[in-house]
Amino acid sequence: MKVIIVRDSEEMSDRAAETVLDALAQKPDLVLGLATGSTPEGLYRRLVKAHKNEGVDFSRVVTFNLDEYVGLAPEHPQSYRYFMNEKLFDHVNVKPENTHVPDGLAEPLLEHCAEYERMIDDAGGIDLQVLGVGGDGHIAFNEPGTSLGSLTHVAALTRETIEDNARFFDSADQVPCFAVTMGIGSILKARKCILLASGSNKAHPVRAAIEGPVTSSITASALQMHPDTVAIVEQDAAAHLERLEFYRWQQQNWHLIADKL
Ligand code: GLP
Repeated sequence: MKVIIVRDSEEMSDRAAETVLDALAQKPDLVLGLATGSTPEGLYRRLVKAHKNEGVDFSRVVTFNLDEYVGLAPEHPQSYRYFMNEKLFDHVNVKPENTHVPDGLAEPLLEHCAEYERMIDDAGGIDLQVLGVGGDGHIAFNEPGTSLGSLTHVAALTRETIEDNARFFDSADQVPCFAVTMGIGSILKARKCILLASGSNKAHPVRAAIEGPVTSSITASALQMHPDTVAIVEQDAAAHLERLEFYRWQQQNWHLIADKL
């Protein structure tokens, strides 16, 4: 995994936006995998700005979100569909029919999961997947113990995740206990992934994901098996990385071979 250490969450969002905009410049019909949570909010603000100020065109972009709470309607302010509309989709010219978020109200849910996975494959697969990491090392809603080969499935949320996400709800007992989520196997099919992390509360999961053993106890560690993942990590979130100095050195000196790549 390539690791880029950045000063603050602003720089993290700048780097992430550059990656997305470069990919979009190369492939106007980009299939973009998107995440929710506070981590990618700065990225979405930059994409909206790029559309409004520089005319960046999202008309051929297709998006797939990682996950959705079971039981929340798209109009529910805490649903991930609502979040995405509010933070990104309503402010760029992506076609609403090209935006996909799992449907937390679908029944039967398992059929919906299989259909969601098929839709991703039919769209040609995800070109670039944006990821955050949960306090327990999860990506999407792949909680500790999830099979590293899992495809889109229904997941039960851990107590830690429910408590982490309670800040968006009036209280923890309003947080749904289940979600539809792309699996680790679904995420590993993406051609490129960017893993974003900021804040000292992410220092433990970041260290475990990047330098720990590949284990279903920290599902983000599966990204070590992915051929093209870049972790863009703000310095507080990077604080526990053992090879921090090496990552910084590599970052500063990469330009020495850039013309040979
Ligand atoms: C949720 C989402 C994850 C996200 C995580 C971290 O659990 N399902 O996709 O990465 O929250 O959220 P935050 O970025 O707010 O720390």
